[in-house]
Amino acid sequence: DWNMPDYIAEAVARIREQVGDEEVILGLSGGVDSSVAAALLHRAIGEQLTCVFVDNGLLRLNEAEQVMETFGRSLGVRVVHVDATEQFMGHLKGVSDPEQKRKIIGREFVEVFQAEAQKLPKAKWLAQGTIYPDVIESAGAKTGKAHAIKSHHNVGGLPETLNLKLLEPLRELFKDEVRELGVALGLPHDMVYRHPFPGPGLGVRILGEVKKEFADLLRRADAIFIDELRAADWYDKTSQAFAVFLPVKSVGVMGDGRTYEYVVALRAVQTQDFMTAHWAELPHSLLGKVSNRIINEVRGINRVVYDISGKPPATIEWE
Ligand code: XMP
Repeated sequence: DWNMPDYIAEAVARIREQVGDEEVILGLSGGVDSSVAAALLHRAIGEQLTCVFVDNGLLRLNEAEQVMETFGRSLGVRVVHVDATEQFMGHLKGVSDPEQKRKIIGREFVEVFQAEAQKLPKAKWLAQGTIYPDVIESAGAKTGKAHAIKSHHNVGGLPETLNLKLLEPLRELFKDEVRELGVALGLPHDMVYRHPFPGPGLGVRILGEVKKEFADLLRRADAIFIDELRAADWYDKTSQAFAVFLPVKSVGVMGDGRTYEYVVALRAVQTQDFMTAHWAELPHSLLGKVSNRIINEVRGINRVVYDISGKPPATIEWE
């Protein structure tokens, strides 16, 4: 059991002592961990912190605006917003293998981040939102205990060539503690309790080759699904929910005409540890509403299906 105000005071003191008057940079992804790390560091060292937010073109609808709004405008954190959509899309062109896509997205992130870091020569520290389970997991990976079926890029992605000292203020915390801390630091509840989102983002939710046009369709379909889940009070009853873009065209009918458009699959799962998962038994009325809205509002999609596969044997993501 811990006392939040005391914890924050101690953490702030520790960070100030560690950092002194030096500058810190942090890659802000919009996810819970980097967001809470940013809020805590901002509380401790204010203007000595610069966050770099890289838009890879594979984020959810309005995500970049929300991050800039929350951190830049509400909290007054210094955030450099880099729109690298074209760079990522360019390197992903013609690539359809999932692991290859992950590698490219991870590599380009490092590229972009490094270029930004070089513009901040006064920075001596690289802050990361590593939490306790990440520490355990990467220790396990070193001893060969972890079974990584998919390569994940959250931990240890940034190279030592940056020549920065590592600052990991959340290293001792579990996820629920990180969330509590985030709320106490003034982050919006919805941001802190958001479902996990993979590092490669929509890059692994667009099957096969990633195209900006597909990402734009998927973002809108996904946002409708999430809006309706929230409205029906199902968001917090699922562990992860999202739409997947299938680059397959099927025939439909609209008014007097035939359509020949893409398919979106909806995925919603319930899980404790993300190692195994059940598909969520969403009410049919909710699924029907989501399907109608997507088909009516997102031109280019004329069919919606619901994924009823458990993990195992399916994975949560489709790639
Ligand atoms: P799977 O699809 O393996 O996913 O059942 C388990 C959890 O991991 C997330 N995931 C990723 N997270 N980079 C990430 O940061 C990745 O490449 C990646 N692949 C899967 C997935 O969203 C789920 O929460």
